[in-house]
Amino acid sequence: MTKRALAALERDFAVSDREMKAIIRRFHREMDRGLSLRPGSLKMLPAYLDRPAGSEKGRFIALDLGGTNFRVLGVDLIGHGIISSAHVLKCVLHKKDITSTDKKLFAFLARSVKKFFIKEGIPPLSRINLGFTFSFPLEQEDAASGRLTAWTKGFTASGVKGHDVAALLKEALLDEGLSNVKVSALINDTVGTLAARSYSDRSCDIAVIIGTGCNACYVEKIFRIKRLAGRFGLRPGSMIINIEWGNFNKLKTTRYDKKLDSASSNPRRQIMEKMVSGLYLGEICRLVMMDLISCGELFGGKAPKALKKTMSLKGEHISAMIADGSPDRSGVRRALRGLGISGSTPTDRKAIARICKIVSTRAARISAAAIIAVATKIDGSLSVKHTVAIDGSVYEKLSGFSDCVKKTIKEFLGGKAGNIRLALTKDGSGAGAAIMAASAARQKMEDRYGR
Ligand code: GLC
Repeated sequence: MTKRALAALERDFAVSDREMKAIIRRFHREMDRGLSLRPGSLKMLPAYLDRPAGSEKGRFIALDLGGTNFRVLGVDLIGHGIISSAHVLKCVLHKKDITSTDKKLFAFLARSVKKFFIKEGIPPLSRINLGFTFSFPLEQEDAASGRLTAWTKGFTASGVKGHDVAALLKEALLDEGLSNVKVSALINDTVGTLAARSYSDRSCDIAVIIGTGCNACYVEKIFRIKRLAGRFGLRPGSMIINIEWGNFNKLKTTRYDKKLDSASSNPRRQIMEKMVSGLYLGEICRLVMMDLISCGELFGGKAPKALKKTMSLKGEHISAMIADGSPDRSGVRRALRGLGISGSTPTDRKAIARICKIVSTRAARISAAAIIAVATKIDGSLSVKHTVAIDGSVYEKLSGFSDCVKKTIKEFLGGKAGNIRLALTKDGSGAGAAIMAASAARQKMEDRYGR
């Protein structure tokens, strides 16, 4: 790749400090719009739950649906912020499951719950409370039900949008003879992650997922949630808000982003998600590579067959290519060979690693700006500590990503950055559903939200 082509790419994907400032400003504006139900790209969905107290106890079942893995967990809450080890059943969802129908998708979930009960020897008639993590945008009116507003992350199963997913689950559980299971809480994965961390850490008031999709939630004062004013007025207390930040669209995009968006299952939606999350990073890199090939800048102008295939580059390929510091980029060569691409030159491989780095750096800097925006929305001068529970394959595994997010926050905020602590909270979304199933009953008893 020529220096000129590289410079153009760097320029297209750069997120300068000035742009970060603009992102933060627009984020605040969009958050305010969502909180007062004005049209905008951030839905700011109330969860009808506050953080758990840490004293919740008992045995709960949790379901975690949000990507290609579906998990059933049995979780014992000991109280005092302690979760005893969870028993887990992992099931792989195939494309045919996530693009089928409501009946097929929920029957699959219910069958998995039954399998788990049999495996764990749970008597079929014992009453058990279940927390359901459903990692898609939900419009809720209480903590135990909610309508799907739109599918994201490539899910397209028919008959679910606009429907209460807790009711769909209950129906499917009944069909499996599981009338003893009560769906006590329905939550987003960000809310689960926040619950899991804040169960033992009161400084945690934000949770972020950067994995297949990306999103965040935070703890908001009820009197600032204008969309709930008619119902709760100026009541004291707080509630978790699922921002659905993957849909933020006030970002500078490139022609590659536009191409990816128009070929996706949800065009014009989830614009930030398509620039940041694991489902799409590889595809952006592929589109850049194909463009450079067509200009004769890579692979001698001849596209390898594997690169012509949409979505053929995955997060793990990108990660391996970025991580490789060897002089002849033998790691990049290995990753390319894994894709069935041979015959690359060291110059090609160097350029490919550079492309992956440029695309992932943009994602990390946008994520850093969004995290700063949420923290400063809660606490404008960052005067107290905010722990951000953070999870997801991109954050955890993409080479250099988490370091870049932390470094960007530090450089942008200087001394104040010390009050934003990013804490990796692995698999919190499952345990968090159990915690919220326990907490929902307590929160109802306290009648925090006036029902
Ligand atoms: C998508 C979903 C959102 C979820 C995120 C992370 O953005 O819409 O609800 O939290 O992915 O899984």
